Amino acid sequence: MRLLVTGGCGFIGANFLYAMRRNHPDWRLFNLDKLTYAGNLGSLRALEAEAGPAYTFIHGDIGDRDLVSATLSEHKIDAVVNFAAESHVDRSIDDPAPFVTTNVLGAQNVLECARRAGTGRVVHVSTDEVYGSLGATGQFHETTPIAPNSPYSASKAGADLLARAYHETYGQDIVVTRCSNNYGPFQFPEKLIPLMYTRAIAGEPLPVYGDGQNVRDWIFVDDHCRGVELALLKGRAGAVYNFGGASEMPNLEVVRTVLRLTGQNDTLIRFVTDRPGHDRRYAMNFDLAARELGFAPSVTFAEGMARTIAWYQANSVWLDEVQSGAYRTFMNSWYKERA
Ligand code: NAD
Ligand code: TYD
Repeated sequence: MRLLVTGGCGFIGANFLYAMRRNHPDWRLFNLDKLTYAGNLGSLRALEAEAGPAYTFIHGDIGDRDLVSATLSEHKIDAVVNFAAESHVDRSIDDPAPFVTTNVLGAQNVLECARRAGTGRVVHVSTDEVYGSLGATGQFHETTPIAPNSPYSASKAGADLLARAYHETYGQDIVVTRCSNNYGPFQFPEKLIPLMYTRAIAGEPLPVYGDGQNVRDWIFVDDHCRGVELALLKGRAGAVYNFGGASEMPNLEVVRTVLRLTGQNDTLIRFVTDRPGHDRRYAMNFDLAARELGFAPSVTFAEGMARTIAWYQANSVWLDEVQSGAYRTFMNSWYKERA
């Protein structure tokens, strides 16, 4: 298999590339990434060193028609997994435009180039956030109507529906995956868990939005990667698959877990102004993926968190590297307005 992964320098893409290298050492892996603030070549240094010519990095934008077309044809790509996206809800509230550009137009360009090149399967990586918000009970099923609430989730829903349309209209081999909140190694420290970790070890206040009772379903990144791999290898063309971690938890409980694992106490918690349009609860039903793909999350939250915190403790250089000037500018202004 000659597999093109987009956004491979980000959190999930990097974990996915390592997993594919481990599971399929005979595959040729290609990674097309724009290297935005969230993309980090350093995350893939070990892969580059170990895989040699079996891994190729291509610097560029998924919205670049010429580049994506040339990549697909010159490297004779068999399949694509599209992870590339702007992924942070708060940034999408601050400035939605790049989200539409990359998440909608860029994703459409990937579908279009794959269609023209006659590439095989495209796995489009979507999110549970396209479904909107749940009340105290119930779960998202693949048939739940799409009702996104943030510019991020609306842009992801746009791409998700384009993927459906490309399958229906052109008969293209496309599978869409919708996963819940990931955590694990290489996650950028703007998302809840690594952000709380960086604050906790510095003894700084931990900003919890609203009342801290918003619920997310946490999945260890390796389990999501396994789901995407199964969708690539066994998914039904045109299908949508939910993946979740069977690990629903209010944010406050997640924050307290980070504090406990870093030896800090609850006095660091600060309740700050809520995120506008903050989805109250997500919960995933992944019976379809279990039935058709054999998907099941294998890492418990306790185990995954222990592994994650241990990884961050052992990789302080990586953490320092990604907290660059551009990162600090956004973080300072966002949290100043909320204090
Ligand atoms: P991330 O922000 O860590 O990484 C995104 C990567 O995409 C970066 O390497 C960035 O440089 C690259 N990128 C951005 N714009 C690009 C463009 N125009 N062209 C090429 N590359 C570009 O994101 P992540 O958390 O790893 O998420 C990956 C995918 O999984 C996204 O599509 C996201 O919507 C989806 N997803 C994420 C989660 C989660 O909890 N993080 C859950 C479900 C789905
Ligand atoms: P996040 O990691 O941004 O993921 P998403 O918004 O895609 O679910 O946030 C996870 C939850 O944590 C979400 O309910 C918002 C909350 N949160 C805070 O309370 N404080 C913070 O500083 C951040 C970044 C998130």
